Amino acid sequence: MTYLLGLDIGTSGAKAILCDGAGRVVASATAEYPLSQPRPLWSEQDPADWWRGAREAMRAVVTMAGVPAGQIVGLGLTGQMHGAVFLDADDQVVRPAMLWNDQRTAAECTQISDLVGAERLVAITGNPALTGFQAPKILWLRRHEPEAYARVAHVLLPKDYIRLLLTGDYATDASDAAGTLLLDLRARDWSAELLAALEIPRAWLPQVYEGPQITGRLLPAAAQELGLRAGLPVAAGGGDNAAAAVGTGVVRAGVVSSSIGTSGVLFAHSDAPALDPQGRLHGFCHAVPGQYHLMAVTLSAGGAFQWLRNTLRAIAPALSYDELTALAEATPPGAEGLLFTPYLTGERTPYLDPLARAAFVGLTARHGLGHMARAVMEGVVFSLRDGLEIMKGLGVPAGEIRATGGGAKSRLWLQLQADIYGVEVATLAAEEGPAYGAALLAGVGAGVFADVAEAVARCVRVAGVTATNPANRAAYEEAYAAYRQVYPALHHG
Ligand code: XUL
Repeated sequence: MTYLLGLDIGTSGAKAILCDGAGRVVASATAEYPLSQPRPLWSEQDPADWWRGAREAMRAVVTMAGVPAGQIVGLGLTGQMHGAVFLDADDQVVRPAMLWNDQRTAAECTQISDLVGAERLVAITGNPALTGFQAPKILWLRRHEPEAYARVAHVLLPKDYIRLLLTGDYATDASDAAGTLLLDLRARDWSAELLAALEIPRAWLPQVYEGPQITGRLLPAAAQELGLRAGLPVAAGGGDNAAAAVGTGVVRAGVVSSSIGTSGVLFAHSDAPALDPQGRLHGFCHAVPGQYHLMAVTLSAGGAFQWLRNTLRAIAPALSYDELTALAEATPPGAEGLLFTPYLTGERTPYLDPLARAAFVGLTARHGLGHMARAVMEGVVFSLRDGLEIMKGLGVPAGEIRATGGGAKSRLWLQLQADIYGVEVATLAAEEGPAYGAALLAGVGAGVFADVAEAVARCVRVAGVTATNPANRAAYEEAYAAYRQVYPALHHG
């Protein structure tokens, strides 16, 4: 028997998964670590915490599974995207890592757009300058912490710092590299034009590989500590969304995943770099060699429903999600004219507007709590539908939608997605998140599977389908058209 290991350096913790060659998960473990917000807008982590968490989670799965180290044939890496780990010439961390949700770099984003040109930036990288991305963090360090900047010899993404400690190599993969704002999306390599414009030395950046490629081999000391064999091949892997897409089979044109967790993500595979010239969608390389993906992000998805429940708990402390969902379910589609825009923490797709605001619109004396609960859920799916419409407008096919995350575990969330997208929505037999996709990529790199398509065919299985209810379509189309009218009144910039 052969086994594959996947490691995810997430924001709340490190997760390791061990699966067999048929994709069956035999062990998984998580080790949490803290997130620090030392100042408003800042979001940081200590890379040493990732390393501790990574070792703890990997040791736990290896011990739990009890399989001989020789049968574990590959390790794949994934993690939170966009973060900046600054290292000196001795690979020592120069300052805490700045993360994907750190918002301090607004001025540097403007500076990058001015230096490169906003249109040119999207044409090269697939994206506008967004505060979370890595490049503006490098410029921020140069301006605000010149002493730290003077020591920098390497800049790595979170999972690639862990790779350095595991194998001694400075390497990344194209999907994660695409989230730096320094990658030429078509060349799938660093853009000489951007590096020159931003005065960033190429020598600071790691070598870019395709997701399944082997970037290095496990060092003897790490192997001994982890109970793995020295020389174990380590695959490039992918950014967390791309790796998760491999694990849910979103690896060919026409397949889209719809994830409702705290935030909501619509992820579409694309054979070619189908860029949104307005930059409303993220355009990244996929972890599948030579392929691309588009991503729409609704910042408050399940988070908006959680906000409603938490708010009501002030007067009904025991209120559960199930009770609130039951009230929503007993309310007709379209919530009898009540609308909710879920922009509680601003919005990415389609507005890229940190100052967008949430609202209930259309309240009458007839509306009650059930209407509000339903309007919140519908508003979240309307926001995701905005992303779907942009994708369709760019010619990206979306005939098959796969629901993942918490939204795949609730009958009502599934029905809302099928009805509001107007496409049947599939659910998967098992869903293990990014670490699972990273393990499958390692399986390709180690030769267990011929390619990503074969890995998916052997390991990912659709378990159920929620059909669109034609009786609900008209109500939702009308409500969606009304929802589209609300945003202009909610921008407070
Ligand atoms: C993607 C993004 C997040 C992070 C953290 O653009 O910002 O999904 O990768 O998970």
